[in-house]
Formats: sequence, structure tokens, C-alpha cells
Amino acid sequence: MSTVQVQASAAALRFPEGFRWGAATAAYQIEGAAAEDGRGPSIWDSFARRDGRVFAGHTGDVACDHYRRYREDVALMAELGIGTYRFSIAWPRVKPDGTGPVNVRGLDFYDRLVDELLAHGIEPMVTLYHWDLPLALQSHGRGGWGDRDTAAYFAEYAAVTASRLADRVGTWTTLNEPWVSAFLGYASGDHAPGHTDNRQAFRAAHHLLLGHGLAGQALRAAGVRELSLTVNLARVSPDDPGDPHDVAAAWRVDGVLNRIFLDPVLRGRYPLDMLGLFERFGAADAIADGDLAVIGAPIDLLGINYYQPALVRAQVGAAAHPMYPGSEGVAFLPQPGPVTDMGWTVDPSGLSDLLLRLSKEYPGTPLMVTENGAAYADARAGDRVADPERIAYLDGHLRAVHTALSGGADVRGYLAWSLLDNFEWAFGYDKRFGLVYVDYETQRRYPKDSALWYRDVTRANTL
Ligand code: NOJ
Repeated sequence: MSTVQVQASAAALRFPEGFRWGAATAAYQIEGAAAEDGRGPSIWDSFARRDGRVFAGHTGDVACDHYRRYREDVALMAELGIGTYRFSIAWPRVKPDGTGPVNVRGLDFYDRLVDELLAHGIEPMVTLYHWDLPLALQSHGRGGWGDRDTAAYFAEYAAVTASRLADRVGTWTTLNEPWVSAFLGYASGDHAPGHTDNRQAFRAAHHLLLGHGLAGQALRAAGVRELSLTVNLARVSPDDPGDPHDVAAAWRVDGVLNRIFLDPVLRGRYPLDMLGLFERFGAADAIADGDLAVIGAPIDLLGINYYQPALVRAQVGAAAHPMYPGSEGVAFLPQPGPVTDMGWTVDPSGLSDLLLRLSKEYPGTPLMVTENGAAYADARAGDRVADPERIAYLDGHLRAVHTALSGGADVRGYLAWSLLDNFEWAFGYDKRFGLVYVDYETQRRYPKDSALWYRDVTRANTL
């Protein structure tokens, strides 16, 4: 055997039998058809129309036109070897006013989509809330996730959706990234509904968690096989691990990003420092007796969305970061290494560290990477889109997942973000995360080199 072959076989990394490979999307980011078949408006329809909130005034009105092109998209997934497809259901399609009458035509779409996926041998994985709250719950005096009622309405919507689809969909995720919903939506205001009110942000965080718990009860009652929640987590490192002030700064940010969701769901209690922040921002009264028992009911799978780690140090007088209320005196530092088109640092070690930490500190819950990927300024030359940086990003992060598996983390699958280029929230269509390039003028899809590379890796179950 030549040296080259020896190196190649030594480097081949095999994933466990049955490892679930796939890709993810979200309704508002790809569907378009914003007023079709009785869909009501969501907070993103309204936010995207507010001056200066979204890059170049982009909206999700048309997006990838997936609502009409889903058959073509499912066929493409099958060609690309996608085994598990994580998509979200638009609450305003199912209940246009958030609560009250069901819009059957909205459910019909997901019924067709699920059947199409199954017909192609693709496992559907449903997310019930990926940020498109029905606008009716955030207008006329209603406060969206700042209101406790929203959690109950969410559970009603979960129940009716499961009654239609749970016979064919096994894995159900209640919320996608509650941290983003609460803190970008209500504290920094970068996302819909665009508020800057820390009290509302903490109330929203709690009501999202309560919504997760109540929806979980409804999903269990509907006989759902695998119940999950997806959180965005990051390793938060102190600049100088030997400096207790830096270590404390990192712990505080870890609290309001990671532990504020992990502890209630997986341990049935808020960490004390987080209870302190609820008190400080006047939101502690949102937490009622019995809520934590609902929130802390067992789940079957924890989804992790990972993009980049954080690096902080203590800095006297630093103002709180708007997305991390309570982070006064903490400086967020630039990190070494390459960055993506989002300006996010590429550091796969952040993913292995996170998965290993979860398996040690919150043992017993299987894990799945439900999103990971990168935006780059892709260009199409004819039918080809060469994206070597994305291949390198995915390769590095899959190695990190393998490292975590070898270290004993119970990771059941990996889903790339995203199947298609799509509406990247406040960045509109300016950022391309897809394995597949979308020409928005023609709506033609062009698998990027990374899609073909990913197909080969997932088919072989080996890197
Ligand atoms: C996480 C979100 O769930 C998804 O909607 C978003 O597009 C990606 N991060 C990239 O920012």
C-alpha cells in the first residue's frame, strides 16, 4: 500500500449504523405563497415590511416558491440522498389567527408534502415553531410570546397538527431556537416582532418554554414517537481561563444563552443566576407554580443548532450586549480563524466541545445536530456552483461530530443547514446557506459542489 492510501484509510471516519443524515429548512424562509390557501399573516410578514428591518426590503412573499415547487424539491432531495428532512410548519397556515378555526387547506399542504417525502423514502421531521408567529397574536393588544396565553394557543395548534400528521411523522420538534425568538425578538429587536424590552424578553423565554411543555403534552397524547426541542447553543470561553473574572464573564453569558433553556427542560429547574435575571428584569412573576414540571417533562431527543463559539472577557464598564441582557461588564472578543459570509468564526472544536459537555452535564438525552452550515458568497458558472469553503466547513464539523461520538456523546444524526439558499431573516436573500443554489429570477435549483460531496459522504456513512 502506498503512503497516500495508508493516510486515506487512516483518515476515513465511519459513523454509527443508522446515523440519520439530512438537511433542514423553515417555512417562512422557503415557502413563499404568503397569502395562498387561507394563510394568515405572521409577525415576519409585518416585520419585513418595516423600513430598514430586512436587507433591501426583502420579504418571504415568494422566497423559494417551495409551496408550489415542493414536488420538484422532494425529487431533488432524493437525488441528493437526503435521508431525513427537517422542515417547519407555518402556524399561520394552520390557524390563520393563531387560535380559533383551523384552516384545513393549510394542513393539506403539509399532508401532501409528508406523503411526497415518504414516497421518496425520506424521513419527515417536523418543527412546529420556526419564528412565524401568527400576527393576530402580536397585535390588537396581544403581546405575542410576552403573553402566557400564547403558550396555550401553541399547544392547541400542536394538537390539531399532530392529529393530522402524527400517523406518518414520527419526530416532532416543538420550538426552533427559543433563545433567538426571545432575545432577538424582544431584547435586541433584530428579529420580529422587533421589541427592545428585557422584561418582555424574559417573559417570552419562559412562555416559549411553557409552550414547549404544553405542546409536548399534546404531542404525547397524539401518540408522537419522538418528541424534541431544538436549541442554538455555543461554547462560551473565557479569554484567560486562569482569570476568575473572565471565567465568571463566560459563565454569565453561558447562562443567558445555554443554561436558561437546558436546565428547565433537562433538569426541571432554572439555574439560580437565571432566576436572578428574571427578578432583576421584573419577569419572575411569569413563572407560575407547576410550570417547571410541565417544561421539564422528558423529551426523546435534543436538537442542537451550532454555527460558532463565543469568546469573552471581563471588562469593567462594558455595556450589556443587547442580545444578552445582564451581560454588563463583559466584552465579546473577535476570535481567531476564518469567518463565513455572516462574519461568523469557523471553529469545529466548538461543536465537539458542546456535544461532549451535553453528554456529561445533561446525560441521558440523545442528541442530534439539527442545523450546521455556512453562508458564502456563491457564484454560479453555468450549471456549476463551486463552493470549496462550504465543503471544508462541513468536513470540519462532521469530524467534530465524530470526535464527540468517539468521546461517548450519544449523537443520533446530523442535518445540514440548509437544503436551499433561502430568506436569511434580517439579511434577506443576501446570504446563501444552501447545499443547493437558488436562482431567484428563474427559481431554478443548482446543486452546489457541496451537495454532491455531502451526498457521497452520507451514502457511504463515512468521511
Ligand atoms: C438558525 C435558524 O434556525 C435558521 O432559520 C437560520 O437561517 C440559520 N440559523 C442561519 O442563520
